[in-house]
Order: sequence, then C-alpha cells, then structure tokens
Amino acid sequence: MLRFLTAGESHGKGLVTIIDNFPAGVKIDEDFINEKLRLRQSGYGRGARQKIETDKIEFLSGVRGGLTTGSPISFFIKNKDYENWRDRMDAFKPVPEESKIHTPRPGHADFAGSIKFGLDDIRNVLERSSARETASRVAVGAICQIFLKNFGIEFSSAVLNIGGVGAKIGSEFNSEPINLNLFNPSIRKNIENSELRMPYPELEEKTKAYIDNIKAEGDTAGGLITAQVKGVPVGLGSFTQWDEKLDAHISMSVMSIQAIKSVEIGAGVKSAYLKGSECHDSIYCRGNRDNENTDNKEQGNPISNDAALFKDSNSGFFRKTDKAGGIEGGMSNGEIISVTCAMKPIPTLMKPYLDTVDLNTCEPKKAFLERSDVCAVPAASIVVESALAFSICYFFLKKFGGDGLAEIKRNYDGYFKK
Ligand SMILES: Cc1cc2nc3c(=O)[nH]c(=O)nc-3n(C[C@H](O)[C@H](O)[C@H](O)COP(=O)(O)O)c2cc1C
Repeated sequence: MLRFLTAGESHGKGLVTIIDNFPAGVKIDEDFINEKLRLRQSGYGRGARQKIETDKIEFLSGVRGGLTTGSPISFFIKNKDYENWRDRMDAFKPVPEESKIHTPRPGHADFAGSIKFGLDDIRNVLERSSARETASRVAVGAICQIFLKNFGIEFSSAVLNIGGVGAKIGSEFNSEPINLNLFNPSIRKNIENSELRMPYPELEEKTKAYIDNIKAEGDTAGGLITAQVKGVPVGLGSFTQWDEKLDAHISMSVMSIQAIKSVEIGAGVKSAYLKGSECHDSIYCRGNRDNENTDNKEQGNPISNDAALFKDSNSGFFRKTDKAGGIEGGMSNGEIISVTCAMKPIPTLMKPYLDTVDLNTCEPKKAFLERSDVCAVPAASIVVESALAFSICYFFLKKFGGDGLAEIKRNYDGYFKK
C-alpha cells in the first residue's frame, strides 16, 4: 500500500518526508518536482516568506542513479528562514518566555491544538499546522505524477474564483467547472500565463485589484480551485467497501489540505438541483467490438467488461458529458476526473479584527498577528493537484500491483488484453 508521512515545522530546519511502497525503476525528474515546488510558492497575494525560500528537493534515500530503487524514498526540503528563528526554534535552547503565544487565532489550529496537547505556547501548534507542510505534499504528488506519466496519465489544476471574482459553483453554478477542460491547450496557456492560475485573462486585473484591496484592509481572501486528471483507466477504486471508493479517498486527500472546506466531484453540489435525466452521463461506444477489436473478438468477452476498448480512445466507450466527474460507484469510469474545492480565507489577519482570549487568563484579546499570506489560492491549487495525484497513484498501484515499473507495465497491459 502506497503511503507517506511528513515531519517538520514551519520555521524549523526543514521538512522530512518518507514515501513507502513506491515501485522500483521509475526515472525521477528532479526539475519537474522543483517546478511544482516553485509553483506552490508563487501566486499573487503570497506573503514575504516566499521571498526567503527557494524550495528544492534533496533526496536522502530510495533513488539511485536517477531511478527509484523500491526502498522507502525519503527527502528533505530546507527552510532557509530557520536562520531567522534559531533563538525560538532550537531543539534544546530554552524558549524565551516573552516569545510565547497565548492568544489563539480563530480559524487556525491554535485553540483546539493547545488544549488537546496541553501546551502553554501556541507556537508548538502553529509551527506544525502551518501550510508549510504542503511543500512535502507537493513533492509527493509530483513523484506520483512522474510515475503515472508512464501510463499516459496527466494532471492539471486551476483557480476558478478568488473572493467571489470568477466562476461560481453550487446554487450559483454556471456549469463552468465541469465543462472546463483544463487540458485544452488555450485554457492551459491562460492558466500558465496567469499569476492567479486562473483560466480567465479578462478577470486577471479585477481579481488582483480585489486582492490588493483586501490586503490594504489587513484582511484575507479564499477561493475556488479545480483539479483534473485524464487518462485514468476504467476501474480504479471499488464499489465493494466504503473505504475502497476512489471518490472517498480523493475527498480525504483534498479535505486534509489546510483551509480546504469542501470537495466536490464533477457536478457536486449542483447535482442536488438537477433531474436524473439532466445529471447522468449517457454511455456511447465508438465502434463495434466484432469488427474493430480483433483481440476481443477472439476472446469473445462481453462488451460491458471489455477494458480493451478504453485503451484506444478511437474505439472506446465514451460520454458526451462528464457531470459524474469521471467517477461512478467509487470507481474511475475512464472520463476526466474533476475535483472542485473551496478554500476559506487565511485565518491570520494583518489587522486585529477577530476577538479571542488569553488561554491562561481568560482575558479578552485580539487575535495575534504574524507574517502571513493574504491569498494563497493559486498555491493551494498546486497542492490540490498533488493530493489528487497521490490518490490516483494509490489506487493505480492497488489495481496493477507489482514492485517495479516493468512488472506494473505488464499487469497494466494484461488488463487491456482480456
Ligand atoms: C498554500 C497555503 C498557504 C497558507 N498560508 C497561510 C498563511 O500564511 N497564514 C495562515 O494563517 N494560514 C495559511 N493557510 C491556511 C492555514 O494553514 C489553515 O487555515 C490552518 O492550518 C487551519 O486549518 P483548517 O483551515 O483546515 O481548519 C494556508 C493554506 C494553504 C493551503
């Protein structure tokens, strides 16, 4: 079972990550990983911290001569900012009393984390709950993407809306997120050229102005994100148990990202407002098994079980719509898998709007201020894409098994030769 663990504090020496059960023989492209890390650091509205850091992956184990060995992969991402925090973050020096924080920020992990662990300094909670940890997750997702590229599986992500500027979903749904194909070259170009990772060039300046205003007010913004994956074979995940379902796993991966407050697959919330005839994606087949697919003709398999048809997009089953977001019954159905999620506004505000209390004295206070992002939705879109990549990789390996790339390729090819 593919799994990973992360460790590290926001202003500690760095982040350590271990990926277990990753197959051998996968050629690792460091530049691809570092580019994803760079994208996670970028985006209009980020705080000063990103000017200090230049995240780079340093492999500690599991990769040799550019190829994965099958042993646990471990890697380090350095926090350059640690040099500025040594006095407060050293493993053994006493923590200066005056640096301790007792006023939890509403919306952050501070309150429940301090009470749960019985801590007298909120920094012990905020250092680990910080989204600095998402650098590890992005690197994990990039490594999963590198592996999945061997099977023609591709990922993309975008920002749909910041603080209400842009596309809407839910009751205000205008059909954009499910009809938006992030693999369309012109949409892709728009996302790449946007500092907001938005596919709407006409909204770029309006959205930046919104962020500028929010910043001037000492406030913060959230937004909507979408991520998609194409080329996923039919049948990843399962309908047989609740915790084997692909949509459930993706939801957990994405919902566990700091500040993500909703996860929708395909039409999501909008499904509640549609009739069955409007919601479900009719099934079609390009071609006829008897005259177009000789392999299967020989095998005589029933067409409904015929995975071979999906391999060749010119002869496979297909849908004209994708409101299911590529998942039915907890399994991939061969269409683009699309996930849309809401990110709440950053909880650390630059002006003391929010009331809180001193946890030691119960005195009313204003929430403490710490250097922070105004808007991190573009960065979070890369994290969502990475979380999706991990879930797809997890189920891909579950379905096709094997310890090395060559063995997995044989299993994959075998699936298409029923
Ligand atoms: C990429 C990214 C950057 C973030 N940057 C900040 C930040 O600078 N300041 C902050 O207070 N929260 C930031 N957050 C959000 C908090 O980490 C998050 O709200 C907090 O951990 C509480 O978790 P919850 O919102 O999931 O309940 C960021 C989240 C992401 C995904």
